[in-house]
Amino acid sequence: MPLVHGTEIFQAARKGHYCVGAFNTNNLEWTRAILGAAQEKNVPVLIQTSMGAAKYMGGYELCQKLIEATVKSMDITVPVIIHLDHGDYEAAKEAIAAGYNSVMFDGHDLPFAENVEKTKEIVKLAHAKGISVEAEVGSIGGEEDGVVGEGELASVEEAKELAATGIDFLAAGIGNIHGQYPANWTGLHFDRLKEIGEAVDLPLVLHGGSGIPQDQVEKAISMGISKLNINTECQLSFAKATREYIEAGKDQEGKGYDPRKLLAPGTKAIADTVKEIIGWMGTKEVKMVPEEI
Ligand code: 13P
Repeated sequence: MPLVHGTEIFQAARKGHYCVGAFNTNNLEWTRAILGAAQEKNVPVLIQTSMGAAKYMGGYELCQKLIEATVKSMDITVPVIIHLDHGDYEAAKEAIAAGYNSVMFDGHDLPFAENVEKTKEIVKLAHAKGISVEAEVGSIGGEEDGVVGEGELASVEEAKELAATGIDFLAAGIGNIHGQYPANWTGLHFDRLKEIGEAVDLPLVLHGGSGIPQDQVEKAISMGISKLNINTECQLSFAKATREYIEAGKDQEGKGYDPRKLLAPGTKAIADTVKEIIGWMGTKEVKMVPEEI
């Protein structure tokens, strides 16, 4: 079973100046599309659930088992990391107990000292089980599944302090936003990313990956971004393909209303989007038989 924690994969990406995709899943179709795309491209992949998606799907245990069983049933051989995206303290503990390979503890809305203390506790619990941990400094603008960020720029000193808790990768607010970027968005703050990249030797995470121009993402990767989070782009692709199917009246032809037919174009669209992003992100192909856990 190619389920792995994320530490070595993202460290290798940081050292090699490339990036590994982290894609949010919402259900079975999303899970199959993401895993199938990674297998086709022969690259490692991180598949993540937000707290909201996990609640929607029926809880952390169900999500973990669904992804693990899908990996098995699709004969996936590339390394797969099952990760919690933007978990609060309780969610991180639940995901660890449910057997996730990796968790993000997002304490950005806590006083910084409390964020550090709670991150340390999560690192202790997670590392005892070989699970990797992501933490967040500064905050990501926009809203994702009820987690709202004002888009506060990460401080270099706080980045160093959070990195010293023993986390495996660090998400830093550098002007990135969840969801669609507004027309007046001024771009990523490369000066701050450079300072953080020089001060912190960990793989860095770029949230809000959907809609950032490719040249900015490539520049960010060259400065230490090793994990690119993508959610909205897959949602938009799914919605567009599903709308086209309905608008063409295909749900009214024969048994076109059957969910297996109705959801097929959207599922394919997610897979195409994932493959396209993996293609330009420069993720290195898997050369070895993946390590088992
Ligand atoms: P987007 O929805 O903007 O791609 O952001 C995804 C993300 O950062 C998940 O944490």
